[in-house]
Amino acid sequence: MSYINRGVPGIDQYLPLNEPDIGAAYSKETHPQNAELPELFKPIIIRGVKFNNRIFVSPMCQYSSDDGHATDWHFVHIGGYATRGAGGICMEATAVVPEGRISPQDAGLWTDSQIAPLKRIVTFAHAHGTKIGVQLAHAGRKASTIAPWVRTTTARTTTAPKYTADKEDGGWPDEVYGPSDIPFSEQFPQPKALTEEQIEVLLDAFAKAAERCKEIGFDFIELHGAHGYLLHEFVSPLSNVRTDQYGGSLENRLRFPLQVVERVRGVWDKPLFVRISAADWAEGPEQDPSTGEWKQWGIEQSKVYVGELKKLGVDLIDCSSGGNWVQQKFTLGPGYQVPYAEALKKAHPDLPIGAVGMITEPEQAESYLREGKADVVFLARELLRNPHWPIIAAEKLGAAIKPANQYERAFIQVILPARQ
Ligand SMILES: Cc1cc2nc3c(=O)[nH]c(=O)nc-3n(C[C@H](O)[C@H](O)[C@H](O)COP(=O)(O)O)c2cc1C
Repeated sequence: MSYINRGVPGIDQYLPLNEPDIGAAYSKETHPQNAELPELFKPIIIRGVKFNNRIFVSPMCQYSSDDGHATDWHFVHIGGYATRGAGGICMEATAVVPEGRISPQDAGLWTDSQIAPLKRIVTFAHAHGTKIGVQLAHAGRKASTIAPWVRTTTARTTTAPKYTADKEDGGWPDEVYGPSDIPFSEQFPQPKALTEEQIEVLLDAFAKAAERCKEIGFDFIELHGAHGYLLHEFVSPLSNVRTDQYGGSLENRLRFPLQVVERVRGVWDKPLFVRISAADWAEGPEQDPSTGEWKQWGIEQSKVYVGELKKLGVDLIDCSSGGNWVQQKFTLGPGYQVPYAEALKKAHPDLPIGAVGMITEPEQAESYLREGKADVVFLARELLRNPHWPIIAAEKLGAAIKPANQYERAFIQVILPARQ
C-alpha cells in the first residue's frame, strides 16, 4: 500500500486530488449520516452535466476587469468558491460587446484575448471538481455607468451626482443603446433605439461569445435577462415602445431575447440558463383588467416567456426580479423573490428553477427545495460574507460533505462518519 499525496491528473501543475470532489457527499457506506441527504446536497444533473450540490454562486460583478479581461482578482475570488464547496459558480455579467458593459471595468467576452484568463480560472475550478459557467450580458440602456464604490464611497463620505460614466470617466455615453430611447433615469445615459441591423450584429455577438465559452471550457452559460439590462428592457412595456417586430405585443417584445437564446443554443450544446426578472415592481397592475393591455412586466408574462424559453431548449431559469423601473417598490426580506420562483415552478414543473435573493440560512434554503419551490438556490451576498457557507450548511443540516483536503482540519466535525 502506498501513501502518495496524489495530484489531479491531466493538468500542468501539482494540485492535490480531492476524493470525492469538494462539495460532494461522502458515500452513505462510509458515512451513515448521508443515507438521507438534505435536498441541498443531492446532486443535480442538467443536460448531462452533474453539479455536486444545489448551491450556486450567483453572478456578481466585480468591476475589476482590465479592458474586459479577467484579472488575478477574478482568479482568487472565483477560485475561492471553487475550493469551498459550491455546486456551481456563475461568473459575473460578461458583456458580449464593449458598449454592453455596465461599467468600464466590467468583464467581457467580445474578443479572443479574453479567453486565456478565463480558461485559467475554469481549469482551476475543474481541478477541484466544481462546475463553472458565465453570465453573458448586455447592459442596454444601463451601460456606461460608474462602479458602485466610485459613485458612493463605502463609508458614504462622497456620492457622485450622476450614474453615467462620461468619456472622462472612461465611459461611452454616446454609444448606449436600448430597445427605445427612454433613459432609465435622468442620472443615466440617454440611450439610442437599436436599429434592426444593430440587433443582427448583437445576435452575432452573443453567438460568438458562446463559441468562446466552448473554447474556455465553461460547463454552462447563463444569459442575463434580468435587472433592467438589455434583454429585460426588450420584454418590458415600460422600456420597449417600439412599433416594429420587436415591440408592442407580448410576442414581439419576446422576439429579441428568444432570438438570442436561439443563436446561443445553436452553437452551445451544454446547459443553458436564463436569469429573468419576474416583475418590474412598478405601480399598478401588470395588465389593465378592462383593455387587457400589458402595463408593465410581471409574473403572468414571465410564465409565457419561460414556456417559450423551454421550447428553445433552455435548461434552467434563474428567477430574480426588478431593476427596470427607477421608482420600483418592493419589500425586502428573507427569500423575497422565492414566490416568483415558486409560481414559475408551478407553471413549468419539469423545468429546473433557481431561487435567489436574501437566502442566507441553510434551513431556509433547504425548505425552498424540500417544498418544491425551486430546484437550486443562488446565493450572492451571503457567499461574499462567508465563502465557506456550503460546508457550514452541511454541518448544520447534518450531512458529511467534502471540504478541500487543505481545509479538512477546520471541518473535522463535518467529515467524521456518524457512529451507528
Ligand atoms: C456585488 C454584487 C454584484 C452583482 N452582480 C450581478 C451580476 O453580474 N449579474 C446578476 O445577474 N446579478 C448580479 N448581482 C445580483 C446577485 O446575483 C443577486 O441576485 C442579488 O444580490 C440577490 O441575492 P443575495 O440576497 O443573495 O445577495 C450582484 C449582486 C452583488 C451583491
